[in-house]
Parts: sequence; structure tokens; C-alpha cells
Amino acid sequence: MKIAVIGMGYVGLTTAASMAHIGHEIFGVEIDEAKLNLLKEGKSPIYEEYLDGMLSHGIEAGRLHFTSDLAEALDETEVAFIAVGTPLMGQWGADLRQIRAAVGDIAHFLKENPDKHLIVIMKSTVPSRTCDTMADHIREIAPDAKFDLVSNPEFLREGSGVFDTLYPDRIVIGSRSTEASNKVKGLYQAIIDGKIPDTHLCPKPPEKHPYPIPVVQTDPRSSELIKYAANAFLATKISFINEIANLAEKTGANIEDIAYGIGLDQRIGPQFLRAGIGYGGSCFPKDTAALTHQAESFGYTFKLLNAVIEVNQRQRIRFLHKIVERLDHFDGRRIGFLGLSFKPGTDDVRDSPGIEMMRYAEGAGAEVRAYDPVAIENARKIFDCLDKEIYFEDPLKMAEGCDCLAIVTDWPEFRDLDWLKIKKLMKHPIIFDGRNMFDPSEMKGKGFEYYCVGRGEDACYNSE
Ligand code: UDX
Repeated sequence: MKIAVIGMGYVGLTTAASMAHIGHEIFGVEIDEAKLNLLKEGKSPIYEEYLDGMLSHGIEAGRLHFTSDLAEALDETEVAFIAVGTPLMGQWGADLRQIRAAVGDIAHFLKENPDKHLIVIMKSTVPSRTCDTMADHIREIAPDAKFDLVSNPEFLREGSGVFDTLYPDRIVIGSRSTEASNKVKGLYQAIIDGKIPDTHLCPKPPEKHPYPIPVVQTDPRSSELIKYAANAFLATKISFINEIANLAEKTGANIEDIAYGIGLDQRIGPQFLRAGIGYGGSCFPKDTAALTHQAESFGYTFKLLNAVIEVNQRQRIRFLHKIVERLDHFDGRRIGFLGLSFKPGTDDVRDSPGIEMMRYAEGAGAEVRAYDPVAIENARKIFDCLDKEIYFEDPLKMAEGCDCLAIVTDWPEFRDLDWLKIKKLMKHPIIFDGRNMFDPSEMKGKGFEYYCVGRGEDACYNSE
């Protein structure tokens, strides 16, 4: 089927590349000229495994086109995904201006093309009721427009976006029209049946995956809320384990064993129980805040989620306190941050806990420096020092003369660094591991003073 995808950010681009991969013909719409030029050359403007290869293959096969002209794309297609950003607008919750603009453009197109029927699919994360409001907006502009507005949220994680799109746990479709809902379901048939072609170009299928993939067909308001509820629940798991970790530090218990011990209970499950400095990124902080704001706007205080957000923020502060307690003060201390992206496998630095801490430490007088395998360029755009270089291409150079190192992103390659050499280069061999990457006894054995999260002094560290 011919499909337009409006907005070539993480979600839009991954959707476009994956849909082209399973055989659809895609018209990607992007107004940013620099991004558009890169895309036309088959290069991804974001760091995401497999995207470059899938883009150039899709272009060569004639299944991927990119344009800045929405009307040109809609002319060709029967279905349009909206995948523009919904950033947080302070206390007002999700900022829907990009959504409204895209919907408005679609409405004007439909007004000028009264015979056209379009299925508009909301991929962007939006508060419950947005599809209803946006359908009204289309009718205001084009009262006779023929369209269905269907909610179909995305659950992809950055860094494994293509994998999550091609091998999802479920597909959620929200529509009041059974026909439109089934048409949207049909777009995913290859994914639902596990018939992904050319697996040498994309991630391999997981060994065990339930086919057919479950499809939840519901109304738009529930579909929209499923997305927020899923992110809020995962964020709750993280804040919960961080609270237990803080308690474990006090009682002398080991959070790794605790997470393992509770995660074996199938009702709880092992995922999202890694304690550390809390969650960041472009989704959890934004979506949890947007959900509490929406609840508040309906006169309901979402107490649990408010606490989840507060615990997450406090986790970063606790980590900084640990550092300052040990170093006495930040003023004049040289602190090296390992990691800048909000998690490994991505160059995304939006709401990165590490960058926030670095900014604070610098404000308190520390001489901060940082290394990240892929995120330096993006970090520089949001945090830089005018008078000195703080970003290093070489982690060993960065460690030179440091009073301590703070591990804030768990890039697997940090495990393979030459830690004995790093120890010699540092002024004081002190490590604050905000992601519990290392076995404390191993780091102590190497001669480091090692601090982590939720692993009390007396706990033993031999869990398998
Ligand atoms: C998340 C959701 O997982 C995804 O379904 C949704 O579509 C978008 O938001 P993403 O933001 O890419 O995806 O990252 P994710 O892997 O979920 O991690 C989010 C944050 O939580 C990261 O900062 C990560 O370091 C942190 N995290 C995750 C923990 O601190 N502990 C954990 O156990 C898991």
C-alpha cells in the first residue's frame, strides 16, 4: 500500500523504513531541509542501528521517497501516519501544536480533493481524546472531508527502534470504525504473521516470539491512554526499584540480588528493575508529566505517578550528594563523566541525567569533562563551556588528573576500558557508578574507591 509518513523523527523514520521493508511504498514528509537532503541520500539523521542500510535499500527498491511537500505525498497515498513531536509544554502538558498544524494541512488538502478518502493514523504520543479533537478540527476546515482518524501508538525504544517495530509485543489500534481499524491492521500483516523479508538487512527475529502478534483493537481514547499508561507503568517500576535500592544501601543489602529475586516472580518480571540514577530520555519524563497534567485537568490528582516523578528526580540529586560528600565540595574538583546519552545505543541526549548532573556540578565550581562514544556532538548543542573544551574523544585522556569519574550511561564498551591505566592517570582513583555496571569487589580489587547504587557495604556480590 502507498503510505505517507509525516515527520521524520525517531518514530516517523523508523516507521517509514520498517513499513518500506515489509513491502509498502512510503512517502516520507519532512520540512527540515538539512534532514531531507540526508534522507534523500539514504542517510539517517539519527543514530539508530540498521536505519542507514534499510533507507538506502528502500530508496534503491523504489519503495522510499522523501519530500517536503505534504500535498505531493497525500496525492499518492491512501493512508497517512502523523509522527510529529509532542514535546512537553511546562505545566500545560503535551504541546500539540505540531499535531494541529499537520492535521490542519491534511484538512486543507482534503477540502481541495473532495473525492479523496484518507485514513489518518496518529502515531505520535498524544493525550486521550486528541484524535477526537483533531477529527473535529478536520471537519471545521473541511466539513465534507472523507477520512478516518485512527490512533495507533508506537512502543519503540530508541537504540532498538527497528527491532521493536518489526517484532512488537502487540499492536494497538483505536478506531470507532471497524473497517478503518481492520485496514490499519492489514498494514501490519507481515509483522503480525512474522513474515519479515531480507533479515540480513534488519534485526534478526527473536528466538521465541508469539505469532500471530496480538492486536488490540479498541476505541481511540483507550488506545491513546494505553500508550501513556505503558510508559507510566515502566517508569513506576524504575522508581520503585530505585527506592528499594536506597533502602538497601541503608540496610546493607544488594539491589542486584533483590531485583533478581523479585523479577523471577512471573507476575513482576525481570525487566525495568535496574537501579541507578533514574530514567531520562525523550519519552518517560515527558509522558509521565503529560499524564499527570491531563489527570489534573480532569480534576484528578495522580498521586502515584507524581511520586514516581519525584523519586526519579531525587535519584539524580542523591547521586550528586554522594559525590560531594566524598569530595567535600565541588569547587575546583575535576570530575569526568562517562556517558552523555540518556541510555546506551543512542546519541539522544534529551533529558539525559548525566548532562543535568554535569551542568549542576559545573555551576557549583567543578571542572567537568565528559566522554561518550556517539553523543558528544548532540551534547555540545545543549551544554558547552565557552572558555574550555569539556568533551574528549578518548576516555583515557578525559580521565587524566580527575578527582573522580562518574559513570552515568551504561555503554557496554566501558567494561572493556583499561581501568588499571585509568587508575594511574587519575588524581584520585574514585569511581561513582550510577548504573551499577561493575562488580564492586572487582573494582576494589583494581585499587579503586568504588561507589554505586543500592549495594550496601556488607552485601555479598556473587549473584549469577
Ligand atoms: C521508552 C519505552 O521503553 C518505549 O516503549 C516508548 O515507546 C518510548 O519510551 P526509551 O525512552 O527509548 O523507550 O528508553 P528505555 O529503554 O525505555 O529507557 C528509558 C530510561 O529508563 C533510560 O534512561 C534508561 O537508562 C532508564 N532505565 C531503564 C533504568 O533506569 N532502569 C531500567 O531498568 C530500565
